[in-house]
Amino acid sequence: MFQVNKNYLKLPGSYLFSTIAKKVNAYTEANTDRTIIRLGIGDVTQPIAPAIIKAMHEAVDEMGNAATFHGYAPDLGYAFLREEIAKQDYQARGCEISADEIFVSDGAKCDCGNIQEIFAADSKIAVCDPVYPVYVDSNVMAGRTGEYDEESGTWSNVIYMPCTAENQFVPELPKETPDLIYLCIPNNPTGTTLTREQLKIWVDYANRVGAVILYDAAYEAYITEENVPHSIYEIEGARTCAIEFRSYSKNAGFTGVRLGFTVVPKDLKCGDVTVHSLWARRHGTKFNGAPYVTQKAAMAVYSQEGKAEIKEQVAYYMRNAKAIYDGLKEAGYQVYGAVNSPYAWLKVPEGMTSWDFFDYLLEEANVVGTPGSGFGPSGEGYFRLTGFGTYENTVMAVERMKALKK
Ligand code: MLT
Repeated sequence: MFQVNKNYLKLPGSYLFSTIAKKVNAYTEANTDRTIIRLGIGDVTQPIAPAIIKAMHEAVDEMGNAATFHGYAPDLGYAFLREEIAKQDYQARGCEISADEIFVSDGAKCDCGNIQEIFAADSKIAVCDPVYPVYVDSNVMAGRTGEYDEESGTWSNVIYMPCTAENQFVPELPKETPDLIYLCIPNNPTGTTLTREQLKIWVDYANRVGAVILYDAAYEAYITEENVPHSIYEIEGARTCAIEFRSYSKNAGFTGVRLGFTVVPKDLKCGDVTVHSLWARRHGTKFNGAPYVTQKAAMAVYSQEGKAEIKEQVAYYMRNAKAIYDGLKEAGYQVYGAVNSPYAWLKVPEGMTSWDFFDYLLEEANVVGTPGSGFGPSGEGYFRLTGFGTYENTVMAVERMKALKK
């Protein structure tokens, strides 16, 4: 009889956002007269910007013409896009990153989940707690974690770095030395960030102990404060210790289009082996290149019109985040994040767990958020609301939550 990968059986329940969707669907079916406002999953609601749509239409037309048709894309991405990324996202910020260090893919979630497989099976991972669930779950699937302890909500053989209001959501350097360190800045779910000085501590530490930082910068477009780096390569020393993930989902509304990229500097080495060569080998073997149409769409993200249009969209979502932050503060909640991020992170009322508050909010205000404990044990007692809804719905959700406080 064949055997399944038993590591999958260790995973509790379903993926966080699937669990939430199931709960919300059941509630909606049983309460068809209610208008539910969804501020749970970080999915965008604004249509793709006109300059990007125009580029996609043109690319679609090219695909319908024998003279301009494109088959398989180069597995690491089209040179036109890799060069534009290197120039605009990195060199323009003073980062020493070249086009051949960029790997275009179908999204940051896949890359964040897949990257672990090019590292040793016994690598020790360190994660911020709370954290985007993909980092831990993908390592569970690979057999890199021990067992799950229901009571503490932790996996053995994983280093958790608590990020709570008590430490201003800044992780401390771990006592035990990790091989792989996941950092998501601006952070999902807490919406908080690290300053240049704080990130430099991590870069120096990783270089000193020989660890790799897996840096998820999917939310960099939301940074508003000067002293928050947009890329880890703004920090000296990062080329020898960091891989960076970027996404077009949050800055350009590509959640349904699917495109992202990963940066692997050639200076990141294990002895004589470059990590770049392994990721290139993996990409070439398991990925056939992101579609021409979506890569042309991404090119429009870097055009003058595209840049202006997506800037407006980011501002729209940030207005929502601010409405949540200000409104809930006024209502007496403790709220964090929402300044360099579309996510607001709030303390749930005394005596409730994160899931209690999820049910309470769904039933009493018909508002959907994400329970903090779904992101890790230190998320217990917190709750995430996203600014990615429409402005009208966001304001209405805040009003409903304020009314609950009265
Ligand atoms: C989230 O809600 O945390 C994100 O939408 C998840 C993702 O980007 O995959």
